Amino acid sequence: PLIFVLNGPNLNLLGTREPHIYGHDTLADIDARLIAQGEKLGLAVECYQSNHEGALIDWLHEARARGAKAVLLNAGAYTHTSVALHDAIKAVELPVIEVHLSNPHKREEFRHKSYIGMAAMATVAGFGARSYSVALDAAAGL
Ligand code: DQA
Repeated sequence: PLIFVLNGPNLNLLGTREPHIYGHDTLADIDARLIAQGEKLGLAVECYQSNHEGALIDWLHEARARGAKAVLLNAGAYTHTSVALHDAIKAVELPVIEVHLSNPHKREEFRHKSYIGMAAMATVAGFGARSYSVALDAAAGL
């Protein structure tokens, strides 16, 4: 089974980006751990990152075309703005797990609304980089 891990804007800067909020792991560290965790779970994990909304939408479509079992999606700030990503999640009819390193509900008011969460199957947030591992474990059990 195939799992897509999609990361949105500014997540390529993990490791140096506001480490007091997002931690010191780089996205490459996180991706490598998820691929290794996937091997143990019998899952093929493919990781993608883009700062562009449309690229994330294209990968959601590709996940469906390739018969992915689930998608882990950290849409970054597009979480709070993107009706287009919301619609794409609904369109592909795949289990999408919304992931955040931080807990957006503990932060600024503008992070409290999630267009992703309103369409996704589930949300994992607030465990730092471990949020992705928790989500991958959950995806394995689907
Ligand atoms: C984030 C939370 C978002 O509010 C923020 O815009 C991000 C990262 C997180 O993983 O905690 O870019 O998605």
